[in-house]
Amino acid sequence: MIDASPKKLALITGGTSGIGFGIACKLAPKYDLALSFASNTEKANHAKIELQKQFPNVKVEIFQQPLNDYNDAKNLYDIVKSHFQKPPLILVNSAGKLRDQIFLGSNFQDHQNLIQEHLVIPMALSHLCLKAMNVAKYGRIINMSSISARFAKRGQTNYAAAKAGLEGFTKTLALEVAHRGITVNAIAPGLIDTPMTQEFVKKVEADNNGNIRSKIPVGRVGRPEEVGALVEFLCGNNSSYITGQVHTIDGGRSLGDPLS
Ligand SMILES: NC(=O)c1ccc[n+]([C@@H]2O[C@H](COP(=O)([O-])OP(=O)(O)OC[C@H]3O[C@@H](n4cnc5c(N)ncnc54)[C@H](OP(=O)(O)O)[C@@H]3O)[C@@H](O)[C@H]2O)c1
Repeated sequence: MIDASPKKLALITGGTSGIGFGIACKLAPKYDLALSFASNTEKANHAKIELQKQFPNVKVEIFQQPLNDYNDAKNLYDIVKSHFQKPPLILVNSAGKLRDQIFLGSNFQDHQNLIQEHLVIPMALSHLCLKAMNVAKYGRIINMSSISARFAKRGQTNYAAAKAGLEGFTKTLALEVAHRGITVNAIAPGLIDTPMTQEFVKKVEADNNGNIRSKIPVGRVGRPEEVGALVEFLCGNNSSYITGQVHTIDGGRSLGDPLS
């Protein structure tokens, strides 16, 4: 079967929930979508149905593939390519969960698992996707980092290490592939309202008695579709001169007002 759609294919890991789904909603009018997830089939089905409802012309498929090592990444890449009969030329690495714990006395296996999910998997998928991007002389790789890569938070040694590593990977890979029309960027969100942060968002809003502005200057938590809008811009032709950057999207949280 030969793919008849002229649209480029975007692979979004973790595309069925939170930030990944916000990105899918913004890319849906222009791109075919492959959304991966780990285990929550009900949520994934709901994401697919919602996209088809909002964008009747979208070609979207969901793929259940827990991503823990290179073979998992390869399985996902192969099945996506075979389903759509074309390789993804846009890769958004958004999958992953938190495993916060104070380092002293922690379970070391949890640290290794988190580094695999948040750093090794994005590297593996980039490696797999780059060959076709190189041939196409077009590619977009967008890695979801976090302001936690630069701002310490107790319990997040593993997460900070993985995200800082991801930013280093982003810059160096960008340098290597820029001449092939491939851009590689990272996004560093602050607090975005998603299933992953639901409890923390409630706590921040309650702790501040409505005065959330003391922590986040714009005065509110971010929305997944706001990250999606930035990704949409980074995928388009108007962003072809932007590569190797970390784009912070945090409502001013990292500006560090010393009086607050
Ligand atoms: N939310 C924030 O405030 C925030 C801030 C900075 C950075 N980030 C980053 O943004 C990304 C998305 O976070 P989110 O808040 O949108 O989370 P989320 O709503 O919990 O969504 C996570 C997605 O990743 C999938 N996933 C999780 N672990 C996986 C694994 N091992 N293999 C394959 N898929 C896996 C989940 O699948 P299932 O639903 O099947 O589990 C789900 O689709 C993460 O990289 C996170 O570090 C988030």
